[in-house]
Amino acid sequence: MDKVILTGDRPTGKLHVGHYVGSLKRRVELQNSGTFDKIYIMIADAQALTDNAHNPEKVRQNIIEVALDYMSAGLDPEKVTFLIQSQIPELTELTFYYANLVTVARLKRNPTVKSEIGMRGFGESIPAGFFTYPISQAADITAFKGTVVPAGEDQEPMIEQCREIVRSFNGIYGDVLVEPKILLPDNKACLRLPGIDGNAKMSKSLGNCIYLSESADSIKKKVMSMFTDPNHIRVEDPGKVEGNPVFTYLDAFARDEHFAEFAPDYQNLDEMKAHYMRGGLGDVKVKKFLLNVINAELEPIRKRREELQKDIPAIYDILKKGSEAAEQVAANTLDEVKSAMKINYFDDKELIAMQSAKYTPSED
Ligand code: TRP
Repeated sequence: MDKVILTGDRPTGKLHVGHYVGSLKRRVELQNSGTFDKIYIMIADAQALTDNAHNPEKVRQNIIEVALDYMSAGLDPEKVTFLIQSQIPELTELTFYYANLVTVARLKRNPTVKSEIGMRGFGESIPAGFFTYPISQAADITAFKGTVVPAGEDQEPMIEQCREIVRSFNGIYGDVLVEPKILLPDNKACLRLPGIDGNAKMSKSLGNCIYLSESADSIKKKVMSMFTDPNHIRVEDPGKVEGNPVFTYLDAFARDEHFAEFAPDYQNLDEMKAHYMRGGLGDVKVKKFLLNVINAELEPIRKRREELQKDIPAIYDILKKGSEAAEQVAANTLDEVKSAMKINYFDDKELIAMQSAKYTPSED
């Protein structure tokens, strides 16, 4: 069986460093590992519209931003297929058939959707499309026979629901669909990077993000204003690293080379943490180190983005070609699905013969 990656993001804003350490960086590594037969990266605009029906312009504007973020982070259109979800109508059709295999009770239990409903304050007025987006996400993955979905922890319930749909479909109609597996970041700090204010979630609506495309100046302001251990008041006070976002960011970003380059007093992060916990290491010093580390990581990304931004039509062209290639794959899967469900009436010679026989007077 082919090893196929399918993953993506909603285009509701520029991507931030949480996206980067949580999934994007891993995708680039997987792309370069050469161990996958196909890699599809989806800009999930239709999913973004499930809670932005009244703000389609936001989605429309951010498609190019996400594409630029992808490519500047190192995803290469020669190696991966980029696609825009809404341009593949087969996905919508699959969604409609899969919806019959999922109960409303099951949808209600999806913890990610549950918490999103709470965050958005939908109350009883949940858009049906939003409520059912896990089904459409199952269509996204299965249309390409995705086997591996590199994504953040919040996507786990989606993949689980997708697997249930696959098992249900294959059980009823025969083996057509493939069960995907999620691939989570192996570094715990990358599972969910907190906001610069210490909030557990980095999110645009909370205004606590560092964006991939942000200028060095603006990142400096944000890092220097980051929340730390509130009880670490004087330099000599012992500090806490647990729940201290500056150290969580270092867990996610810092490598031993960074110490040699920017903080040669320490061999590695453990030594720096030990000093902080003992007392005698000030927040400003740690933040300056973090700033160097983040800049070392983001500088090449910013540079690539500046280049890519010079030819926006070329980016749209890549998205168009990718969407066209992807549609062919999705169309094949849809054909298989419809045959398995026996809703391929006009191709089904047996059906036509059988129905004819029913109305042919018998000889005896
Ligand atoms: N739900 C993902 C997000 O919130 C986007 C997405 C849509 C996705 N379809 C997908 C992710 C399929 C992985 C696989 O950004």
